[in-house]
Amino acid sequence: MDLVTVINPKPQNEFVETPYITSIAERGLRYIKKGFPIHLSGPTGCGKTTLALHIAYLLGRPVVLINGDEEFSTSSLVGSQSGYRKRKVVDRFVSRVYKSDESMTKTWLDDRLTTACKHGFTLIYNEFTRSRPEANNIFLGVLEERMLELPSASDDGNYIKVHPDFSAIFTSNPEEYAGVFRSQDALMDRMITLPMTHYDEETEIAITQAKAGVPRSVAKKIVTLVRKLRAADVCEFSPTIRASVAIARVYDEGDKDWFEQTCIDILSPKIGKGDKGDVDPAGIIRDLIAG
Ligand SMILES: Nc1ncnc2c1ncn2[C@@H]1O[C@H](COP(=O)(O)OP(=O)(O)OP(=O)(O)O)[C@@H](O)[C@H]1O
Ligand SMILES: [Mg+2]
Repeated sequence: MDLVTVINPKPQNEFVETPYITSIAERGLRYIKKGFPIHLSGPTGCGKTTLALHIAYLLGRPVVLINGDEEFSTSSLVGSQSGYRKRKVVDRFVSRVYKSDESMTKTWLDDRLTTACKHGFTLIYNEFTRSRPEANNIFLGVLEERMLELPSASDDGNYIKVHPDFSAIFTSNPEEYAGVFRSQDALMDRMITLPMTHYDEETEIAITQAKAGVPRSVAKKIVTLVRKLRAADVCEFSPTIRASVAIARVYDEGDKDWFEQTCIDILSPKIGKGDKGDVDPAGIIRDLIAG
């Protein structure tokens, strides 16, 4: 049995709103309300998925979430004619079943994209460039002509008209990331891309404080350290807000050695050992802590 999980968007726990976040969310919302799909693009940990969910919450429509995957084919997005199948649409998040049709019928099996297009839901297609570009061709017609092409065996005929309330929020990491495909220009051309970068310092402090429940002074100390490391140009991977939150979560007031140790554990892997193994991540981190 295939499930299409429909999320009823609600405010996210400990969601932090600062001028930077409000500004991107408002721009995104304005474009969507004028009928444009939006695309949040930026490095790992910059807040794309969180913001996509937030914009979806502001839109107030049920949400269908897809995570991009190399294994995806078009049939995993729109469904396939596969004989007698059970169909069920559940709402896992509010334990209220949105629609349930368990009758064993030989019908077109609605899958996620089809469900969202038909009912006018918000589709969040997270990390869409992890899917092969061919699998995403189906979006060309959905986004431009607002028609979803279905395999001919479907009961609905060859096309369904996309519901006027349907909207799409895409997220992606830049092309240089491992496991990411270059998207077709025609698809990119149909969306409005909002580039994101790591949050500004105030936003990072506010998120660290909120997610770890530490005083502002502690959040500030940690965020300053992580930002210094990010700026130092010694990292293989930029440390993200996730590192600040992790260090803050295990923080123990008064235990300086533990603080240093957790910073080394959490941040060293970002630095790497250098091409010749001659880099000393722990030393770099100790120096940064010492100021
Ligand atoms: N506005 C916010 N308020 C509270 N927490 C946030 C906010 N934005 C991001 N975060 C937190 O920061 C972390 C990174 O955010 P998120 O997962 O959205 O990033 P991402 O860009 O989707 O990363 P990835 O590319 O790795 O999927 C998460 O733990 C998230 O909960
Ligand atoms: Mg994400």
